[in-house]
Amino acid sequence: MANPAPRLTRRRFLSNSAAIAAGVVVTSRLTPILQAATAPGAGDFVSNWKSCPDRVWLGPEYWSNPLQDWRLVGGRLECTNAAPDRNVHVLVRALGEKAESFTTAVRFGRADGASLSAGKGSVGFRVGVRGPLPDFRNALVFGRGLDAGLTSDGALFIGAAGTAKPAAGRLDVSEAELRLTGVPAGGVYRITLTLLDVRGAELAAVAKDVPREQCVGGLVLVNNFPGVSGPVAGKAAAKKAAKAAATTTSGAGAVNAGLGRFWFADWRVSGAKVEAHPERTFGPLFFSQYTLSGGIMKMTAQLPPIGPKDARTVRLQVQTGSSWRTAGEERIHPEARTATFRIPNWEVGRDAPYRLAYNLTYTDGRQEEHFWTGTVRRDPVDVPTLSVADISCNIHEAFPNAPYVQNVAKVNPDVLAFTGDQFYESTGGFGVIRTPVDAAMIDYLRKWYLHGWTWRELMRDRPSISLPDDHDVYQGNLWGEGGAAKTTTQEAGGYDMAAEWVNVVYRTQTAHHPDPYDPTPAKRGTLQYYGPLTYGRISFAVLADRQYKSAPEGNVPPTGGRGDHETNPNFDPKTADVPGLTLLGAKQEEFLEKWVEDWRGADMKAVISQTIFSAFPTTHGRGESMILRADYDTNGWPQTARNRAVRTIRKAFAFHIAGDQHIPGLVQYGVDEHRDASVAFAGPAVNVGYPRWFEPLLAPWTKPNGPGLTGDFTDSFGHPFTVLAVKNGAKEPRAGDAMQFLDDKASGFGLVRFDKQRQTIRVECWPFLADFTKTDTQMPGWPIEIKMLENYGRKVTGHLPSLTIRGAAKPVIHVYDEATGELVYALRAASPNFRPHVFAPGKYRVRVSDPDRGNASEVRGLQPSVDDQKPIAVSI
Ligand SMILES: [Fe+2]
Repeated sequence: MANPAPRLTRRRFLSNSAAIAAGVVVTSRLTPILQAATAPGAGDFVSNWKSCPDRVWLGPEYWSNPLQDWRLVGGRLECTNAAPDRNVHVLVRALGEKAESFTTAVRFGRADGASLSAGKGSVGFRVGVRGPLPDFRNALVFGRGLDAGLTSDGALFIGAAGTAKPAAGRLDVSEAELRLTGVPAGGVYRITLTLLDVRGAELAAVAKDVPREQCVGGLVLVNNFPGVSGPVAGKAAAKKAAKAAATTTSGAGAVNAGLGRFWFADWRVSGAKVEAHPERTFGPLFFSQYTLSGGIMKMTAQLPPIGPKDARTVRLQVQTGSSWRTAGEERIHPEARTATFRIPNWEVGRDAPYRLAYNLTYTDGRQEEHFWTGTVRRDPVDVPTLSVADISCNIHEAFPNAPYVQNVAKVNPDVLAFTGDQFYESTGGFGVIRTPVDAAMIDYLRKWYLHGWTWRELMRDRPSISLPDDHDVYQGNLWGEGGAAKTTTQEAGGYDMAAEWVNVVYRTQTAHHPDPYDPTPAKRGTLQYYGPLTYGRISFAVLADRQYKSAPEGNVPPTGGRGDHETNPNFDPKTADVPGLTLLGAKQEEFLEKWVEDWRGADMKAVISQTIFSAFPTTHGRGESMILRADYDTNGWPQTARNRAVRTIRKAFAFHIAGDQHIPGLVQYGVDEHRDASVAFAGPAVNVGYPRWFEPLLAPWTKPNGPGLTGDFTDSFGHPFTVLAVKNGAKEPRAGDAMQFLDDKASGFGLVRFDKQRQTIRVECWPFLADFTKTDTQMPGWPIEIKMLENYGRKVTGHLPSLTIRGAAKPVIHVYDEATGELVYALRAASPNFRPHVFAPGKYRVRVSDPDRGNASEVRGLQPSVDDQKPIAVSI
């Protein structure tokens, strides 16, 4: 009997892996050649693709650009799109600073099997790849390096691809090998690129001396160098392409007449200059997100696009003492590439170390067990404050924003609220794929993965929520119309992308949220996520403020131009307040009504949504500085639905956390008058793309009282609003230094601290480049502390008799208007002695309760009086 295939030959802990990436032993028949060129070193590497099953994802050791354009097929790597500069980075090796030699080699051929000269394109290496920022991940998107390759007409080149000189003649072979060596020689490196046939015989070679600093950084395979003209390219095209190549090396859509598709195999890297970085692997468990609410822990594991022969499930294991108990095993969603766990009766009182486990399968029968580890923190119910990071709008220009993320890690927020635009369409380069839908899903995932790679060290050990906004669904703006498809223009409403694609976005970002209030899918089967989350005794309403919103075009008076941009200075906002229009939708409003009454497990409340419920900025767009009389993308519109929502939210004295604006601001809503409703924080963008400003002096409808930017104003839709703090970015941000540029544009970090004992909310806001651990480095005007009661800042007209409550140290008080039966407000009293206030004369019913124990008592017929009234004793 033959020996059974070995299982689980190796275990790898990805979180703090000391393991060396798979397949490091150089076993190729070309070993003697490699050894002749450079002495073998600890950094030697050879790709293990020949034992990998077919799939899109190339393995933990690689990052492919763009993800959807590469496949593992038959044990080889294959480019699936004949387009410029498709490339693959090896993550686990890099050329270090040492003045030592290195070699990299790869076998290749045309994906269609034809001879190398029977088509177009170019193939080869990019070495010494570095981005403008030091983190190796920055180079995967923005890296530049030294190109060296072969064109389909047999020309080898080192440096600008347009300089290729014919050398090898016609290549009537279907397979060859490229080998690049670098040898230090004085102050430079002698680079030699050699073309070999399948027997290892040299066909052609070129050499060039390059500065030493060009040989420090990442190693990349390239399919179609930018700037290479194929056999049919004209002189002009070649010139243009060479110019493009001189200015850019990766991610560029360079003019290129010579595009082909190639396969690659046996990629080797060796030499004493090569550094091993096993800790840089990415996947197969990319990252995790979790929430803990009401005793239910939900966690999503994010995976890459695996193949049909790969394992289909992920296990969640929880550590108790020294043993790991499997808490669940879930199937990987075929489109979202997620496995989501829902574990009721979670042990909320202890920090629970967990690991996600996945077996990576090889065609030779091996299985490697990979782990992603973290901790589900205990629910901090007894900690006096809870901090929420308000994170939004990351165009990833400074990907992976490592100093920023480290800064946030030091602040150590209790909850991460990703309030939208987790990436933009441009993130990661290579444009946007909208069809076919399967490629579009992978195109989305690669951008989402960059978000996850940015934040995974924080998401692994604290709860996070993620609210998909417009750019998350590949739209500049979104009026979701309940999940409907876009029919004409974006401004006429609906989603541009296919429903199953939208659900990949919603599933990856929100499947780990607490169960939605309404699980019934919206139009086209669009998933729901809005609902409650209670953590650390703060009750959050997680809203979907784009999913149901009505569209402007066809509903409001025509703008004469873009359907969402009203530029007429004489615009009367009342004409846009059309009856029947939706902001949150009836069902989501019903949720809010129930949520403001429900104080189980909660001391304070906050709403989290994508954007604030006022039209705040006046000025839009870099360069154009366009003053908009009204912007229907803001949630100041539709007014009636907006007012309903704001009137509901204030009943719970709820603070509002949002993002979206790209201009950090703390504003207080007004409904009937200034400061009569909640305070809302539009947190700063992580990396501002499109800038906006608040310039009330240029916008007469805001009714500025003076040159200041804070104080009482009127927004575009006629709502009173009060600016408590704002930071306008520079009109002319300093270009050159990517980090300074983002700081100038008012990128930054926002944090909200709920103090449950003092019933205060402290809002903090730092510039992008500040030290977030220091208070005095915040943006001008911050920090600001408000009292919880200010969130319903309506004028108090009288007080009901004081209540002396027995049976609960911090009872919940509901005040109802007896005439209408409506809830006036509800809150958690800070002590057993509470004197309810009211905003109008009348008779009131007061319910006093301890909702967690189910005890309650009611007092009816109470009336406000300006005089002292005799306290009423209430036992619950
Ligand atoms: Fe944004």
